[in-house]
Amino acid sequence: MLIDGFSRKIRYLRISITDRCNLRCRYCMPDEEVQWLPHEGIMRYEEMLRIIHICSEMGVDKVRLTGGEPLIRKGLLGFIERIKEIEGINDLSLTTNGVLLYEAAQDLKSAGITRLNISLDTLKKEKYSYITRVDAFDNVMRGIEKAIELGFIVKINVVAISGFNDDEIINFAMHALDKDIEIRFIELMPMGCAARFGNGNVFKAEELKDIIESEYGTLDPVKGGLGPARVFKIKGAKGKIGFIDPMSEHSFCSRCNRIRLTANGHLKLCLFSEDSIDLLSIMRKGISDKELSSFIKESVKLKPGHGIHIDGKNGKGDMNRIGG
Ligand code: 5AD
Ligand code: SF4
Repeated sequence: MLIDGFSRKIRYLRISITDRCNLRCRYCMPDEEVQWLPHEGIMRYEEMLRIIHICSEMGVDKVRLTGGEPLIRKGLLGFIERIKEIEGINDLSLTTNGVLLYEAAQDLKSAGITRLNISLDTLKKEKYSYITRVDAFDNVMRGIEKAIELGFIVKINVVAISGFNDDEIINFAMHALDKDIEIRFIELMPMGCAARFGNGNVFKAEELKDIIESEYGTLDPVKGGLGPARVFKIKGAKGKIGFIDPMSEHSFCSRCNRIRLTANGHLKLCLFSEDSIDLLSIMRKGISDKELSSFIKESVKLKPGHGIHIDGKNGKGDMNRIGG
């Protein structure tokens, strides 16, 4: 098993399969030209499959593919099919910005993806173009509709930014009334490019919850589901409301069961830590599976514990490499 120094069992691996993205979200990408990773510095599918396989033997049963934008990497469908063949991985999901989803949804479904997290920070077309710097709102909306229609389990990731989408919280929540989807509010983490927003733009989950409760009454907690999200239901609603609250919730870390692989093959044990472990280099030097397995096992023991985010030690990396 992969067990860290705080007795947390690691069962969830998130992989950023590319740092490239077809959007340029202001909290993720710089104003100036983006320095993409060189191609040879990005993990090949074979290399990712090797790591997934080794992790699955140590109890990881859940994999999420992220980016950048995963749908822009060539060969993705074949990669997904091969992950599905790995024994022990019973939950395979994908996080996308939705821009190419309408075209890709059916193939993703056939390849074996069951759950999709789709990022959408505003329901207004002009604001969407502002925050992502790309006019792609309509594409995302029809992508989301298609995903629901095809029966994916859909979560909409909304990064809550004070001064940007505070006036849209109810509009978002409303979508969880009659559709079986989860609207998931994420507190803005002022790391990397998001540092430009500063702590003043962090919109606390409790404030969001208050806004929703003042409109719809007390939210009922939904049980189950490991991991850092806290999930609720509006009474009588079909869908759910979730909160990812790393900036304000002190028990956030104790619920963390995940590790991340960055696009350049670094094992990142905590989103908020600047530390990462370069697996790709040691793999390319020719390490055996057995050695790699014990190396990962030992590395996981270094996973930071509680409250690193609250200490203000915000990580440096940008999300397009880490995968959110
Ligand atoms: N803070 C919070 N969420 C972020 N994301 C990207 N950067 C940040 C940040 N600094 C979100 C994306 C996506 C998810 C994977 O992470 O919007 O929904
Ligand atoms: Fe792309 Fe996601 Fe970064 Fe936006 S937040 S630029 S969609 S990787």
